[in-house]
Amino acid sequence: MRASGVLQLPLLLWTCYEQELTDRGLLNQAQINRGGAIHGGQDQQSTIDHFCHRYGNSASRVTYFVLDPDNRFTEDQQRLLQSFATGSVAILDLACGAGAASFGLLSTLAEMRTNAALPTLPLNIHISAADISVHALDIYRSLIVRASEQLSAAGIHLTIEMTSWDMSSVEATNELCDRWFNACQVHQANELVVVMANISGDKEVWQSGSRSISHIAERVSNKQSSILWIEPGSDRAKNLLKRAVEVDPIGGTTGAGFLVGSSAVAFS
Ligand SMILES: C[S@@+](CC[C@H](N)C(=O)[O-])C[C@H]1O[C@@H](n2cnc3c(N)ncnc32)[C@H](O)[C@@H]1O
Repeated sequence: MRASGVLQLPLLLWTCYEQELTDRGLLNQAQINRGGAIHGGQDQQSTIDHFCHRYGNSASRVTYFVLDPDNRFTEDQQRLLQSFATGSVAILDLACGAGAASFGLLSTLAEMRTNAALPTLPLNIHISAADISVHALDIYRSLIVRASEQLSAAGIHLTIEMTSWDMSSVEATNELCDRWFNACQVHQANELVVVMANISGDKEVWQSGSRSISHIAERVSNKQSSILWIEPGSDRAKNLLKRAVEVDPIGGTTGAGFLVGSSAVAFS
């Protein structure tokens, strides 16, 4: 996946992404290089802008962590691979957008399995995907439908449940956790993994959602659980990671500009 120092997205993710853009008539838009702040959001246009112009960036941060080509995250990366080796894992992807983080994770694992970099043992994954944008959830569902056959071929059997969720409401977050724990029981999950990625850019979002994030961190703290939180390497992201769940960011500001935070219970 890494030729001449260039990190390439997993082929499965790339193929599904390109097909999704094509079917939605967005391929030309996605080929325009747009700088500036694009954070997604509740409305359709913000969702499409993020999907067209930032989806690859979001997914690449997760791919970089899972592959760890520069050996920056060795211990946590190994624990992550262990968690996803076999058995049943339940993921809660918060502010998931169109799923760049959890789909980036799964497609990278699938590619590693296909290339015999990991053993292909049976792995059942249930994703609870939550976001305020129903448009983003719809795109994520469609991507997963496209990918499921190839994930299955790599021994990864996936179920997914979408929840429209507003992280500024602790009550909604409480309900989200209840539903997720229920799903964990139904799917007999032996590992629980909370995924958060790329939410630091929108100050309003994480400020209004910080109580919810702390709530989730507390709810999983007495379970066999991990929190994988990946942000760009900005000062804002660093402060956010430290404050919200008292995370010690690891990896610092790497050449590729990542922060990876894992809580005290991460991958234990
Ligand atoms: C920058 S995107 C990141 C999406 C995804 N995690 C990724 O890595 O691509 C931020 C996401 O936060 C979502 N969001 C914004 N406000 C929210 C809120 N109050 N509750 C839940 N999600 C929210 C947006 O809809 C958007 O999908």
